[in-house]
Amino acid sequence: MKYSSYKIGVLEIDVQHANIDYLLTELARDGLDKEVSKEKFELLKNGLVHHFDFEEKWSQTNNKNFDVDHLESHKKLLVKLNELYNQFTKSELSMCEVSLTMKMELLKHVQNHDTRLNA
Ligand SMILES: [Fe+2]
Ligand SMILES: [Fe+2]
Repeated sequence: MKYSSYKIGVLEIDVQHANIDYLLTELARDGLDKEVSKEKFELLKNGLVHHFDFEEKWSQTNNKNFDVDHLESHKKLLVKLNELYNQFTKSELSMCEVSLTMKMELLKHVQNHDTRLNA
């Protein structure tokens, strides 16, 4: 199951979800050099920051209700991502596990929050 499996019906948002799926898949690849993993992780992190920002601004521009829970969930996801990264640097998690964990979290997020954006 992919983050982008749930279509919001807003092209830019759906495309961004698909791009994040791609970055997650790239991160989950076997046998990546640690430095390469870090670079790929940075791409994912920047992609998510940009995407969350976009959703928040898009909602304002289009008079959609962007509730506090959704905002909080974006913040929590970024905190979670940092926690996972710290575990990776301490060799407690592989980047593949970081990717899979984020994917699960993002799936829950898209179901609980993003699907309501275009209601
Ligand atoms: Fe989203
Ligand atoms: Fe969201």
